[in-house]
Amino acid sequence: MIIKNAEHEITAVKPNQYPVTGFPEVAFVGRSNVGKSSIINTLLNRKNLARVGQTPGKTRQINFFAVNGNFYLVDLPGYGFANVSKEMKASWEKIIETYLYSRRQNQLKLVVMLVDIRHSPSKDDIVMYQWIKGYGMNSIIVATKADKITRSQINIRLNDIRKVLQLDKSTKIIPFSSEKRTGREEVLEEIGRSLFG
Ligand code: GTP
Ligand code: MG
Repeated sequence: MIIKNAEHEITAVKPNQYPVTGFPEVAFVGRSNVGKSSIINTLLNRKNLARVGQTPGKTRQINFFAVNGNFYLVDLPGYGFANVSKEMKASWEKIIETYLYSRRQNQLKLVVMLVDIRHSPSKDDIVMYQWIKGYGMNSIIVATKADKITRSQINIRLNDIRKVLQLDKSTKIIPFSSEKRTGREEVLEEIGRSLFG
């Protein structure tokens, strides 16, 4: 798929703030700091369209980015971040779940779930993936920060992630680096396929 243009359309918290265009959506989920905002910038060839942070908890609301005038990439807050109050954690989780639940049937064509390639998926990751599957959502796994390990480690790490998340054979897992831009074409291809067949 070719990215012709992209712009930030709206920041939302509640469903009545989501876009009403009816365009299909691709959502990025994963733990805080895993690289959700970074992958969106990399896919869209933009430096800081989605705001990236050094510390977990940078994205606290939902950001909709309109692409090529006919679909959205959706940047969500992260989960599993320990260093915030219980109330804050609950509020972010509610934002994520409400979004996924309300878009699951019509707009949401693909959930891109991100996990850090260096680590085994956390309990939160496992719960999130079960939830995505449980609702029958179309999903792929992207293993981020692949530049931080050697090439020979990549398949070992992918197999571990596959095992811990109990991915079925048909579920794609793509190693990715926002730093080196590796995996970009493959992820865009999956997005294109999910949106336009
Ligand atoms: P929250 O908004 O807090 O949920 O985080 P996020 O998942 O949006 O992560 P973000 O894109 O803000 O990136 C977090 C940190 O990881 C930043 O310091 C990024 O520069 C870094 N990072 C993201 N992707 C990569 C990558 O592929 N390689 C390396 N080396 N660093 C990365
Ligand atoms: Mg973010």
